[in-house]
Amino acid sequence: MFRNSNHVPQILRPDHYFSPEQSEVERDRLFLPAWHCVGVKALLPNQGDFLTLELLERPLILWNTAQGIRTYLNVCTHRFSTLTDKPCGHFAKNLKCQYHGWEYDGEGNTCKIPDAQSFRPLKKGELGLREYRTETVGQLIFVTLNENAPDLRTFLGPELVALAEQRFSPEHRLTLVRDTHIDCNWKIVIENILESYHIAMVHPKSFADYPVPEHCFHEFHADYDHFIHDFTDEPRYAKPERIIAKLIGRAPDYRWHHILRYPNIVMGGAGPWHYIQMVWPTSPTTCRSRWITMHYSGSKASWWGFLLHRALLRFGRRTALQVQNEDARIYPKVHRGTAVVDRPHSGGLISMREERIIVFQEYLLRETGSKPSTAEPAEKPTFSPTIRFAQP
Ligand code: FES
Ligand SMILES: [Fe+2]
Repeated sequence: MFRNSNHVPQILRPDHYFSPEQSEVERDRLFLPAWHCVGVKALLPNQGDFLTLELLERPLILWNTAQGIRTYLNVCTHRFSTLTDKPCGHFAKNLKCQYHGWEYDGEGNTCKIPDAQSFRPLKKGELGLREYRTETVGQLIFVTLNENAPDLRTFLGPELVALAEQRFSPEHRLTLVRDTHIDCNWKIVIENILESYHIAMVHPKSFADYPVPEHCFHEFHADYDHFIHDFTDEPRYAKPERIIAKLIGRAPDYRWHHILRYPNIVMGGAGPWHYIQMVWPTSPTTCRSRWITMHYSGSKASWWGFLLHRALLRFGRRTALQVQNEDARIYPKVHRGTAVVDRPHSGGLISMREERIIVFQEYLLRETGSKPSTAEPAEKPTFSPTIRFAQP
């Protein structure tokens, strides 16, 4: 059963997609309190490896230290240069600032200052790097900018933790990491991700058509939703899964999972491939996506295992890039129309198939204390926060 028996109107206003005030509220209430997946352990496997990224206007550096993976603000305490601008690399012993050469140890404390006597009085270790809380689940590395955030496992909840541990286990190998800058409000990307209605037009090569409705299931929870496509009876997908599962030595799983942990953590995948996608606003009308795919290819020891790994890597990369590129082409066009103040009042129809969007929009209004569009829903959604149903 659908949650709604008819379509409902979009409840976000045009200015939700371009207003600086709305963007600030979302940053403060949705993004700053949350945990963010910034990478996977496979990206910095050895002690000393680092990677950098930009998160919510803050340059960060993740560093694999003797005490584990630590995250610091990539800003030197001397005169605030970024320590390094390389996307990744290796600092064997200390982090070293690229400007005047101050060095920081694994704990983020200053440990070497060139011409230190000219900074008197200064105690050793007095000026440390700013550190952010870092926790992992499976191979996924999460960071929060909020000192008072609950621990990561509480934030994700048991179902998402179990899925992350299983789908990004140490046996999984890196398929693809990709950062994309997109000219649209971040919610345009999330809303697109939440519906399969665009598949026939936007992904004709990758997926061909909508999933069969009888095989689709939705679950809605307080802070995440979960879409499952059971393709047991769809040979187009089931046959390759059966063959791949046999090759890598595990039982076939004929389900495609897709989860949005509000506001911006997307986890999806089927067969040997699983991905996590983060979408961060970079301004009211632009955003950035970090997409990480991993795959499981069974034993690595044999020639056969190596060949299988290469095949899964190539196919997984090609498909993920193709799907992302297809979606990326449509985002600016959707943003252009959605953010127009004179857009038709009677439009903005959200179909039964697209109903995950309405739950996301309700979440957004609730959490930002914002008012809906003046157009009244044709039928007010009235269902319990956790519900599971098959689409008719
Ligand atoms: S700003 Fe880093 S050493 Fe001067
Ligand atoms: Fe898509």
